[in-house]
Amino acid sequence: MQNARPLCILRPATGRGSRVRHSCNRVRLTNQHFAIAAVTEKCAAELLQLALLLFAGRQLNKCPKISTHFPWKTNARRNSTPWPITRKTPSTCEQYCLKSSQHGICPVKLQHPKLVQLLQLAYSAEKAAAFAYIGHAGSVKNRDEKVAIRKIELDEWQHRQTVLSIMRQYDISPSRYFEIKYHILGRIISASCYVIGWFMPYYFAGRLESGNVCEYFIMMRYFNEIGISDHDSVLYEMGIKEKEHEVYFQKGLQNNRLLPLFEKIFGWGNKGSFNDVDLANTSSVEESKGYCKHPK
Ligand SMILES: [Fe+2]
Ligand SMILES: [Fe+2]
Repeated sequence: MQNARPLCILRPATGRGSRVRHSCNRVRLTNQHFAIAAVTEKCAAELLQLALLLFAGRQLNKCPKISTHFPWKTNARRNSTPWPITRKTPSTCEQYCLKSSQHGICPVKLQHPKLVQLLQLAYSAEKAAAFAYIGHAGSVKNRDEKVAIRKIELDEWQHRQTVLSIMRQYDISPSRYFEIKYHILGRIISASCYVIGWFMPYYFAGRLESGNVCEYFIMMRYFNEIGISDHDSVLYEMGIKEKEHEVYFQKGLQNNRLLPLFEKIFGWGNKGSFNDVDLANTSSVEESKGYCKHPK
């Protein structure tokens, strides 16, 4: 009870004037009370976030970008309408999409199921990675390491935002299944960082990043297969950034005595990598299309 803090409340003064003054109640709150309150608050926030996620997932399937503007109601009577005003105006966003697709208003649908799934997977996996880095940064003691990991976390949020902006161009909704799965996974990894020590979060973060590098180069190739090269440079940048993350963890572990054993079991370490990108000798955007043709 040494660190007990008194619960202070404001009470109106009983004496002269109308001023209020601080008065301390007899109830004293210990640090344990504050810790329980913090955990409860965190759990409530998590539950709320999940509920919002479920709700948002449902809304995303409802043609949100177009329905929020209601252009088939507001613009239909003007001369600029993409269809003759004498015809009956569309009443739903789906009908609007059908009519306006000839005029390039509606997003182009991607006819590449593997690419659509890869985009959805990358979008959700970036969230899991960012969550994991929150726990990772919280569990390390060295201040420089904390700053570096926090920077990686921000990169992951930025990647998620970039992937979402690409998805929106093709009217691709995030997968609710991936979103919930990777949300839970990210939170579990984040919490486990405080329990499993320093080595394993470092090792598995590096191993994961190693696999993520190819994700973006393969995505670029899939886009090119259907004649789209608009996203080449942004995908290239994200792939290279993932390689930088991998190298950061690789360097942090290179002299650790556990690394050879883990490398033997899990296939990643000083010599083994899941991609063929070399940061010391990177290819141009055009040449990078040769990366990850034979991912391990
Ligand atoms: Fe990322
Ligand atoms: Fe990363």
